[in-house]
Amino acid sequence: MTSFSTDAAPLGTPQRSTTQSDAPHVPVMLEACLEALRPQDGGWIVDATFGAGGHTAALLAAGARVFAIDRDPHAVQRAAMLDHPNLVFARGDFRDLERLLAQHDIPAPRGVLMDLGVSSMQLDEGERGFAFRHDGPLDMRMSATGRSAADIIADTSEADLAAILYRYGEERHSRRIARAIVAARSQAAITTTGRLTEVVTAAYPSGPRSDHPARRTFQALRIVVNDELGALEEGLEAVARVLTIGGRVAVLAYHSLEDRIVKHFFKGSSRLTPLTKRPVTASEAEIERNPRARAAKLRIAEKVAP
Ligand SMILES: C[S@@+](CC[C@H](N)C(=O)[O-])C[C@H]1O[C@@H](n2cnc3c(N)ncnc32)[C@H](O)[C@@H]1O
Repeated sequence: MTSFSTDAAPLGTPQRSTTQSDAPHVPVMLEACLEALRPQDGGWIVDATFGAGGHTAALLAAGARVFAIDRDPHAVQRAAMLDHPNLVFARGDFRDLERLLAQHDIPAPRGVLMDLGVSSMQLDEGERGFAFRHDGPLDMRMSATGRSAADIIADTSEADLAAILYRYGEERHSRRIARAIVAARSQAAITTTGRLTEVVTAAYPSGPRSDHPARRTFQALRIVVNDELGALEEGLEAVARVLTIGGRVAVLAYHSLEDRIVKHFFKGSSRLTPLTKRPVTASEAEIERNPRARAAKLRIAEKVAP
């Protein structure tokens, strides 16, 4: 049976939530991750971003013992469904990797997988507030604690909002969108994804575009709400410390801000040596089966010094 711990508020008996989506999350670049992490050796592998457990299930099937982490309360239920004797699950943030390993008596792992960003379930559950395509409360908190996206939209100055959109969304029209948000919130608080999408879309200049106008704004807010880049930097530091010599870390990034951090960390670390000069990307066949794989960039590094 899967062993459990939750790092935050206890959730009670794992059970299927009525609000949970049935859409599966298809694991990205599974073969390449398995090849990098060598689960057949039977050592401990940390899946630092459990999600729906797609990568974990494959690692277990290939012979690994898996210590799985996720900060999302819903991941607990998915780990319970896997129900595997070689799986230990902890709810928590991968930036606390060392503490979580120690709490569970897990020895130095031979591999760590970080499949960054949001899962398909998080995007599909309208009430989590991650998606501009589903109306719901403007939340975006992976861990269901702390300040929500609605809080940030409500009390951030126009200049700071523009800076957030520019920096974390790489949004060219950041000032224009920030101005529109501040004008709209003075009429009525922006508390739903639907209203924010309307405001951003109306503020966007007309003309041909390849993307939904709200995509970059939503990305920026999600990164800030969850301190995703701070967690990634601290998480990578922790991974480099805890891996065994010869152990490997594989990171799947989905936008350039994440990938840049991973690339520079691997290059600059005295403990790690990168095994991928350029990031590995998904095949056209995989992208066709799983469009989410299109943006993925996989980088792998090996621990070479304590
Ligand atoms: C892309 S999904 C992982 C999907 C998973 N590989 C699978 O095959 O089902 C990313 C997951 O990482 C979790 N996550 C993101 N940042 C985290 C962090 N700092 N600590 C722990 N979990 C995190 C999210 O809650 C989400 O469930």
